[in-house]
Amino acid sequence: METKIFKKDDIPEAVKLLKQGELVAFPTETVYGLGALATNEKAVKGVYAAKGRPSDNPLIVTVADEKMMAQYVENIPERAQKLINHFWPGPLTMILPAKEGSLPTAVTGGLPTAAFRCPNDALTHELISQLGAPIVGPSANTSTKPSPTTAEHVYHDLKGKIAGIIDSGPTAIGLESTIIDLSVAKPIVLRPGEITPEELGEVLGEEVLMNKGTAVTAGVPKAPGMKYRHYAPSAPVYIVDREEDFNSIPHGDDIGVVALDSVLDKIEAKNKFSLGTSIDEAAHNLFGALRFFDNQAQIKEIYVQGFKQGDISAAYMNRLNKSAAGHHFEKNN
Ligand code: TXA
Ligand code: MG
Repeated sequence: METKIFKKDDIPEAVKLLKQGELVAFPTETVYGLGALATNEKAVKGVYAAKGRPSDNPLIVTVADEKMMAQYVENIPERAQKLINHFWPGPLTMILPAKEGSLPTAVTGGLPTAAFRCPNDALTHELISQLGAPIVGPSANTSTKPSPTTAEHVYHDLKGKIAGIIDSGPTAIGLESTIIDLSVAKPIVLRPGEITPEELGEVLGEEVLMNKGTAVTAGVPKAPGMKYRHYAPSAPVYIVDREEDFNSIPHGDDIGVVALDSVLDKIEAKNKFSLGTSIDEAAHNLFGALRFFDNQAQIKEIYVQGFKQGDISAAYMNRLNKSAAGHHFEKNN
């Protein structure tokens, strides 16, 4: 299958393809998503196949607005309404009880809840509005690989497997949306993102917990996708927690180094990839960096800068920890 690259004027063609049950990748402010008509079970199954994604990992339901979401929930709880008013469209996904029978099992993974997201992207808003129905929206990468922050990343992973990619340039944030579970007694963040638990708590007027590890309710893992190895290039990744430790990491043609300019400027290394000049830029560049070295067979180890400061550092470290399988560089090891 030919994978077409769509621009602004091609939205009607992308809508037509989605209506026919084809897969079209779409831009958001976080990462690119892989779209299929959410009410078409066969199309949704095609998403799992294209990504190589385990079928027990439910998909986000991507809507144009609150009105569209209302068709797939029994009601909109007060907490959800507050968060919608404040953060939508934006990088926040909400888990809510789904209206029974309104979504195929392939979307929800058989859970009584569903994940709803309304991205802040003009082309994607236009796409879903014209379609008149939600699209599923997992990140548009091959399962276990870093999420795509450019149309080129999507093309690299999915060319020949999907009908098209809507290209609107690099994404703004670079890490996936914050996921908050509102289907439980106490709201809890299942996946950290740019919007922090503190910000959510301020809007809700109550404490919002942060899930540490794998939360499990009645044997069902929360945000099932978080349990898999993720964001991982083929070479092992090591987190370097302290800037000065970059002086002690191994040297060689087969070593990749990923850090801020301020660090890279001070060290000798053959294969450097810049994270930019700040933690926000680092969040934006992390997945691209992992992909850059993943595509180079001679790279055998990748050393990546860790961060403790900054609102987005929790989200950044969450993704980096998964790609490194928790491995930190230890001096004298
Ligand atoms: O920023 C984003 O959220 C991107 C863009 C494309 O919208 N999408 C994204 O989707 O990151 P995905 O599929 O890569 O991650 C969605 C996560 C998975 O970990 C999945 O297990 C979880 O949401 N999830 C989906 N439905 C759920 C549910 N009903 N309960 C708990 N977790 C759920
Ligand atoms: Mg993903």
